[in-house]
Amino acid sequence: MQGRSIISVRDFSRDEIQQIIDIALRVSRGEWAGALRDKVLATLFFEPSTRTRLSFEGAMVAMGGRVIGFADASVSSTKKGESLSDTIKTVTGYCDVIVMRHTIEGSARLASEVASVPVINAGDGANQHPTQTFLDLVTIQQEFGRIDGLRVGMLGDLKYGRTVHSLALALSQFDVKLTFVAPASLRMPESTIEEIAGRGTAYVELSEIGDIDEPLDVLYVTRIQKERFGDFQEYERVAGAYRIDQDVIGSLGDQVRIMHPLPRVDEISEQVDSSPHAIYFRQAHNGIPTRQALLGLVTGAIP
Ligand code: CP
Repeated sequence: MQGRSIISVRDFSRDEIQQIIDIALRVSRGEWAGALRDKVLATLFFEPSTRTRLSFEGAMVAMGGRVIGFADASVSSTKKGESLSDTIKTVTGYCDVIVMRHTIEGSARLASEVASVPVINAGDGANQHPTQTFLDLVTIQQEFGRIDGLRVGMLGDLKYGRTVHSLALALSQFDVKLTFVAPASLRMPESTIEEIAGRGTAYVELSEIGDIDEPLDVLYVTRIQKERFGDFQEYERVAGAYRIDQDVIGSLGDQVRIMHPLPRVDEISEQVDSSPHAIYFRQAHNGIPTRQALLGLVTGAIP
């Protein structure tokens, strides 16, 4: 994977996804310590982030590398009118790899076309968040020892949630059954459904948690993406539509594990955090070894 950009999970075969998961798990056991010595990461965040930016930075530091960048576009020269393309052409000369988050769908692909170093998409609008998906799959593999054969539900804002777009597409390369639960106005995009169905993945679409009538191994909960609604009244109609609490978990069965890419607003009760069903903070912590693996692979530090 040396020199390769990470833009969309669509660009990765099942074998490549499995290889990334396996390397992340080996990194978490201490392999390749110090492998990013002398490498420089540039983090360009045009949208807010806690987990993605800090875990990329933490991953780089943990493997002996260094980090430059900005966490807020208002302190970059885009504020003076510089184009994204010019920003990338400039920064590409300062680093070995770029991690970028941007509001515009397709921006990461554009950046990868003008950069001479690998570009890693840390989220482009409502489109894709591939590195979140890799850490989600690492978490699932850790928890269950496999991905094939699992029943995975996705709940909440499936229209604007880039994490679920990426995760659904990646999971459709495995033998899984998917259950999508969302209000009618926040359904999984038709184009994503068509891709998943085209691979022969079994799926159902529901609008209420109470409609789930088969056991799930994973329920992947998402926040309603307030910032992506053009119409605030439309947001208010669906805000607070779902809330996971101990009663809901009880109805889903003892086997279920609750995941969430975070940040959470109010869609999971804090009382659930101490439950053995809740694995979302462990999931967030897997951002470090997963991103260590990805940085190592694209820079060639991990062969
Ligand atoms: N999961 C995720 O992308 O979190 P941040 O927005 O905090 O990076």
